[in-house]
Amino acid sequence: MSATGFDDIGACVFDAYGTLLDFNSAVDRCRDRIGGRADELSALWRQKQLQYTWLRSLMGRFVDFWHVTGEALDFSMKEVGLGDPALRAELMQLYLSLEPYPDARDCLERVKQAGCRTAILSNGSMTMLVAAVKNAGLDGLVDAIYSVDRTEIFKPHHSVYQMPVDELKLPAPRICFLSANGWDAHGGAAFGFRTAWINRAGQTAENLPGDIQAELSSLAELPALLGA
Ligand code: LAC
Repeated sequence: MSATGFDDIGACVFDAYGTLLDFNSAVDRCRDRIGGRADELSALWRQKQLQYTWLRSLMGRFVDFWHVTGEALDFSMKEVGLGDPALRAELMQLYLSLEPYPDARDCLERVKQAGCRTAILSNGSMTMLVAAVKNAGLDGLVDAIYSVDRTEIFKPHHSVYQMPVDELKLPAPRICFLSANGWDAHGGAAFGFRTAWINRAGQTAENLPGDIQAELSSLAELPALLGA
């Protein structure tokens, strides 16, 4: 094993929202109409979206991520005093065309050039993911998309992380899992992936099971980690 422990990787599996796709870009594009509480709305929308996935998983009451995203938006708009149905509809549509992070395309290209397969493993519904990947211009750079539509339970349930192992026919330690969400990186690491946390925002490390092998500040650092 190399000094970094990331040699012999057969595939890189990326989280979608927050890792390849910037979920803040939806609210950003409607900033003029939202006013001074735009950043608060975006942060709350994301926070409630994730909370609802975890709570629904515990309750055994799965609905797809589109539905959860809408319920989280409804809560968040109410919380910040916005009641505009047209704005709600536009924010939901914008979730299908989120901006990719500036480092996403180049990273995917270089990983593929190095002979690694690429995939997305996400809470997103397949319909959302296919649209977002296409609209971000990342189709062609992603070999496969795995959605929790199939497991009907959200991350960090181990059955979600099992999907790429089964589909790519690679053991977990030969899969490099990348997530900017600390809790998701721990989920992947606890499952057994080689895991790099893309700590874009310089957040404090989580105290959760799973040993994350690398912490990167952006996806631009991934090719070097893989020796690509
Ligand atoms: C996803 C969320 C967790 O794409 O960001 O699965």
